[in-house]
Amino acid sequence: MFVIGMHGPEIASTVRAGQFVNLGWSPGPLLRRPFSVYRSDGEHIEVVLNAVGTGTAQLLGMDIGEHVSCLGPLGRGFEIRPGIRTAVLISGGLGVAPMPLAARDARQAGAHVTWVHGARTAVELCSETEGDEVIWATDDGTEGSRGTVVAAAPQAEVVLACGPNRMLAAVAERWPEAQVAVETYMGCGTGVCLGCAVPLKRGGYDRACREGPVYRAADIDWGALPSHLSYAVTR
Ligand SMILES: Cc1cc2nc3c(=O)[nH]c(=O)nc-3n(C[C@H](O)[C@H](O)[C@H](O)COP(=O)(O)OP(=O)(O)OC[C@H]3O[C@@H](n4cnc5c(N)ncnc54)[C@H](O)[C@@H]3O)c2cc1C
Ligand code: FES
Repeated sequence: MFVIGMHGPEIASTVRAGQFVNLGWSPGPLLRRPFSVYRSDGEHIEVVLNAVGTGTAQLLGMDIGEHVSCLGPLGRGFEIRPGIRTAVLISGGLGVAPMPLAARDARQAGAHVTWVHGARTAVELCSETEGDEVIWATDDGTEGSRGTVVAAAPQAEVVLACGPNRMLAAVAERWPEAQVAVETYMGCGTGVCLGCAVPLKRGGYDRACREGPVYRAADIDWGALPSHLSYAVTR
């Protein structure tokens, strides 16, 4: 997993956990690429990624000082009300991306934060987790508890999750009121192209880039959302 930092005070000072930026560069792909904001210090933002295709490989090949056009903050982030007592953050693979900001906001809201992070195997775990309590889970038991993050997570007043859509569907079964950040393919990132359709339980579709990417888990028609969108962390 790699971290890219960018100077962008307008975005860094307003971004909320779960929101994303749409990155473009030249020469680069025709369409911008969306990334959750990982960290922000008010002046700079960071995103995390692995090289999975042309765009991410080009981003990781850039030199310090090169310019990236950064559109954001985009989408609707996690709703974290003041006064909550307990929050559980559940992340799988690169689903760690929105969680440092979620941990920050949940702590500021007064919550005791438990971060449950999982991967297929120990080398795919992200070690940058933080919180009052951190729980690891791996499918093969090489680190933390053997099994899924959903099984390893304790009950809490607020559940925030990000990861492969298959994992989020399991979160929805256990916590219908959880807030989940979903991944879709995206085009414009601004609500125009309809390339980011999310099927809803009540029928019809939402645009992940405008009404999402964070949803109430029970609102999504998980059977109709592609479950193959997922990346593992490698370090
Ligand atoms: C709201 C949002 C937040 C995201 N946050 C992050 C993040 O923090 N870190 C991160 O690494 N990635 C994130 N992604 C996914 C990221 O946008 C894709 O990895 C990226 O667009 C791939 O670009 P590429 O040119 O490297 O791959 P391409 O060459 O376009 O495709 C390579 C492979 O990746 C698959 N792919 C393309 N787009 C996606 C996607 N959105 N989800 C899953 N698979 C895809 C393709 O099917 C293909 O198999 C996010 C996506 C969304 C919608
Ligand atoms: S990405 Fe174009 S409408 Fe959402």
